Amino acid sequence: MKIAIIGLGYVGLVTAAVLASQGNQVIGIDIDKKKIESLLNGNIPIFEPGLEEKIKCSASNLEFTDNFDHIRDATLAYICVPTPNFNGKMDLKYVLSASEEIRKRSKEITIVIKSTVLPGTAKKVSEVTGLTVISNPEFTREGSAISDTEKPDRVVIGGFSTKLVQQLWSFTKAPMIVTSNENAELIKYASNSFLAVKISFINQIADLCETIPNTDVNEVAIGMGLDKRIGKDFLKAGLGYGGSCFPKDTVAISSYAQERGVELTIVKSAINYNDQRIRDLARKVNDLSDSVNGKSVCVLGLSFKDNTDDIRESRSLLLMKELEMYGAKVIAYDPIVNNLKSVKICKNMDECIKKSEIVITSTEWSEFSQINKDILKGKMVFDLRRVLEPKDFKIVMGVGNGKN
Ligand code: UDX
Repeated sequence: MKIAIIGLGYVGLVTAAVLASQGNQVIGIDIDKKKIESLLNGNIPIFEPGLEEKIKCSASNLEFTDNFDHIRDATLAYICVPTPNFNGKMDLKYVLSASEEIRKRSKEITIVIKSTVLPGTAKKVSEVTGLTVISNPEFTREGSAISDTEKPDRVVIGGFSTKLVQQLWSFTKAPMIVTSNENAELIKYASNSFLAVKISFINQIADLCETIPNTDVNEVAIGMGLDKRIGKDFLKAGLGYGGSCFPKDTVAISSYAQERGVELTIVKSAINYNDQRIRDLARKVNDLSDSVNGKSVCVLGLSFKDNTDDIRESRSLLLMKELEMYGAKVIAYDPIVNNLKSVKICKNMDECIKKSEIVITSTEWSEFSQINKDILKGKMVFDLRRVLEPKDFKIVMGVGNGKN
């Protein structure tokens, strides 16, 4: 199939690479000339495990351009542009401008919206373009985006005339939910909100564990997760959820619901708790270290989670700001992120630790679980992602560990 992918961020690039690797003719289009230039020179603008290899292997089926005229050659035009929040509400400007570019070039093409959009958006795009619009939300996590796209738990397809899109994803062998556009759009928000609630829930249980001797949130999570009705995933306590999706989507669906007279109190509570969590953790670090004022603090991990270079809504960056407000002198190390103006970043993890009195793990990079025990000797360690083996280190606080 000939497919145009509009918007080459994490979602668009991964979708383009996977569809090209399945033998489709894919043209990736982006308004960012620099990004296209870099892709044409073989440089992948983001870090996503396996993406570079996938793009290289599929090069004969994959083109990149900033020229929207190439849309004319395609049967399906995938919209993968961002849907940021503006004043707490979803801003559709990029989706609408991509739709307009498509409308100008073809009267027969089918638009497929992969961007996360509120219910009613596909209908709106269909009305303004006069084209068939299918909803096909993504459920891929950064860091494992290739395998999540190739082997998803389910494929959700909304709208009429969905046959081509069903055919396109049939290689995944995943269950397909073929439904209305509005259901497909809502499935995405309901799923992300539910996962955000799950994370806030386990973080509150972690708070409780810290007050009860001989409890450990990790063990409680295992015990809960083996119940099939609950499931083991997304029960990892830590700094709360960050990234480009959960914080934005939970806020967008809450205000959308509110406009319709429905209070999503559970989602709102998860949002409020997630916001509060960083302040609570900074206060705990300050109290348990007998004040961080004037002390050097090393924060390990800057991206919003492991295996990505994405710092959008990074919990580490928020924590660092809070600690600085308590007077801490913060430095950081990350295996990939090494060029932020606002943060003093060390190139080497051991050096970063050696220079500090307090060490905080804030992202679950596997490299951190290999830290040399001797280097941590004499340091006050706060394992806020539970990456360290408690019996190997003297840990002042491990999130959700009620050992004391
Ligand atoms: C998310 C959704 O998982 C994906 O389906 C959607 O399409 C896009 O948004 P992503 O933002 O890439 O994916 O990351 P995810 O793995 O979901 O993690 C989100 C945040 O929650 C991260 O900050 C992560 O550290 C945190 N998290 C996740 C936890 O704190 N505990 C967990 O158990 C899981």
